[in-house]
Amino acid sequence: MAQGADVLLLGGDLCDAGLPEEAEILAREIGILKVPVVAVLGNHDFEAGKAPEIVEVLSNAGVNVLDGKSCEIYGIGFAGVKGFAGGFGERALQPWGEPTIKAFVHEAVEEALKLESALAGLRTPNRIALLHYSPIVETVMGEPPEIFSFLGSSRLEDPLNRYPVAAVFHGHAHRGSPEGVTKTGVRVFNVAKSVLQNVSDAPPFKILEIDCAEGRRKDETSS
Ligand SMILES: [Fe+2]
Repeated sequence: MAQGADVLLLGGDLCDAGLPEEAEILAREIGILKVPVVAVLGNHDFEAGKAPEIVEVLSNAGVNVLDGKSCEIYGIGFAGVKGFAGGFGERALQPWGEPTIKAFVHEAVEEALKLESALAGLRTPNRIALLHYSPIVETVMGEPPEIFSFLGSSRLEDPLNRYPVAAVFHGHAHRGSPEGVTKTGVRVFNVAKSVLQNVSDAPPFKILEIDCAEGRRKDETSS
């Protein structure tokens, strides 16, 4: 991967049980790479209540862990946020009724606002968005419909249509579909490991080539 890419993106669930010791294993592996690494956390990374320690371990290893922030590498801007659940379109959960439901929806709204803020903060028009949860229903297709609502939120899609990006990457939907588009045609890639393994026998990473001068996708190969 490092031989074929200029930047490595990690779409969350960097640990399994959310333990800093797991992050240290990842940090050691990343340490041998010679490319910049940008990451967001996933839900697994919160399991043990030690997300700040995980961020610290990875940050010390040089990983740029984004949580509503952005960075620019080789003229390309990367905006990253974990995202949250809540469902898609007209069926999305609404903030009505019990306080717990309102808090659940509020979390998704907050994550969408963080994504918008990260995108708005980029001075380059060449942007990539990195998420853990899906912003569209298309890339969770293949999962049991009963859990669609737990795999992403279309509230995350709105910022992506307001601040167009060259591509969106996310994970989390292990049995989802590899590719979809937002309402405005922004391409969304589900790069969950098992999804990539389903489309190819090659090692599970995806390479997307971007024209740095114009911020357009130039060509792509998937592995
Ligand atoms: Fe996940």
